[in-house]
Amino acid sequence: MLVFGGTGDLALHKLLPALYHLHRDGRLPADMNILALARKPISVEDYRKLAERHCRAHVPRASFDAETWRAFSARLDYFPMDASQSADYSRLARHLGSHCQRGRIYYLATAPSLFEDIAAYLSIAGLADANTRIVLEKPIGHSLESAQAINQSIGKVFQETQVFRIDHYLGKETVQNLMALRFANALFEPIWRAGHIDHVQISVCETLGVENRGSYYDQAGAMRDMLQNHLLQLLCLVAMEAPVRFDAEAVRNEKVKILEALKPIAGLDVRDKTVRGQYTAGRIGGQEVPAYYFEKNVDNDSDTETFVALQAEVDNWRWAGVPFFLRTGKRMAKKSSEIVIQFKPVPHRLFHEGQANRLLIRLQPQESISLQLMAKSPGRGMHLEPVELDLNLAQAFRQRRRWEAYERLLLDVIEGDSTLFMRRDEVEAAWRWVDPIISGWHAFYQRPRPYPAGSSGPEQAHSLLEQQGKAWLE
Ligand code: BG6
Repeated sequence: MLVFGGTGDLALHKLLPALYHLHRDGRLPADMNILALARKPISVEDYRKLAERHCRAHVPRASFDAETWRAFSARLDYFPMDASQSADYSRLARHLGSHCQRGRIYYLATAPSLFEDIAAYLSIAGLADANTRIVLEKPIGHSLESAQAINQSIGKVFQETQVFRIDHYLGKETVQNLMALRFANALFEPIWRAGHIDHVQISVCETLGVENRGSYYDQAGAMRDMLQNHLLQLLCLVAMEAPVRFDAEAVRNEKVKILEALKPIAGLDVRDKTVRGQYTAGRIGGQEVPAYYFEKNVDNDSDTETFVALQAEVDNWRWAGVPFFLRTGKRMAKKSSEIVIQFKPVPHRLFHEGQANRLLIRLQPQESISLQLMAKSPGRGMHLEPVELDLNLAQAFRQRRRWEAYERLLLDVIEGDSTLFMRRDEVEAAWRWVDPIISGWHAFYQRPRPYPAGSSGPEQAHSLLEQQGKAWLE
């Protein structure tokens, strides 16, 4: 596996720890080596030290031991090169020599602006044959046009079956559990539709700011960084029809249909159905944190959104009239990623009290699925209270180690299974829906609404639901 961007945050914080875990569990092919590529002129030894420092910090203490690390680091190699220079690929080809003829994986943990060059130069250097696979990190481009250009350039060198577009949310255990819940239980499917469901909320709130990624984030914003990919993928899994088989083509066919059924948000709807925000100074966990525009490598006059909330609609038979409220933001009060399926109230009220049922699928910080039902509270009289029917996944499977999303996805790439990866048309369909919203913001000169770091986002995000008699589940 060759990792472009081998000294970047993604490689050091996510990929290497995931590969270390797979190695520790005996799941990596015995003869698999990892070659990190980056511009830094450092030795292999220095790279191994750098990797060890980061793995120690990002792997739970109980799973890190010196012996396993020694064996794992013997797989690690480093080759300094500039991925934007064609000549460096001939050096790379010489370095690889006759090694790894059986199949190479190129992991592009770089900015998407390099994807096209890397694919072209690999091809010119004769390094991209039918035995190779290429992994692309999101975001794929920054608009439909740029995504199409990237997909086209990659497509000239690699067949679609060789391309793995990663969205790490699809590797999260609970996200896959959502499919198990829907398609392996007879209970939910009959009521999983308009008529029974009042609305759906998909919320991914983070306490983190932009860390060291200011220059990337200021160009991207919450819409391109999170909503175009992670949140829309979650929406697809909630809304899609049952695929005929659990395989890459069948699952992705169903997801594309949902993306294509998303009702366009354009014109005045951009003003009425979307809210963008940007955090100002505030407190997170008792610590003061600066406003977004004072973050490192962020323009002081930036109008990039660090928060977005919107109302989407899936225009098809199953979902007509059911709003899907999506929300994501940085520097929010607490980290939580969850999907709420809010059912409609009972058709005829026998009791004075009672709330409609709600299914809560929590991805983070703790994975769980719970169904809120109404029950009689003990004692005289018919008093009702909501109680939770709880599927505590961490506890149910507590003897097993929980896999990190990247572990599962890297193993899928190694084994060539692309079910949990985005197909070309999926990425493009998502951009096709997102682009008019972004251009609408510019057309209306809609600057992001300020919200203090450590809060639950701008007021307007609450009004979006309140005006329809609903509220975000906090
Ligand atoms: C990444 C985004 O894709 O997902 C980050 O680029 C974000 O900005 C991260 O912080 C969130 O991932 P998770 O798994 O921590 O929810």
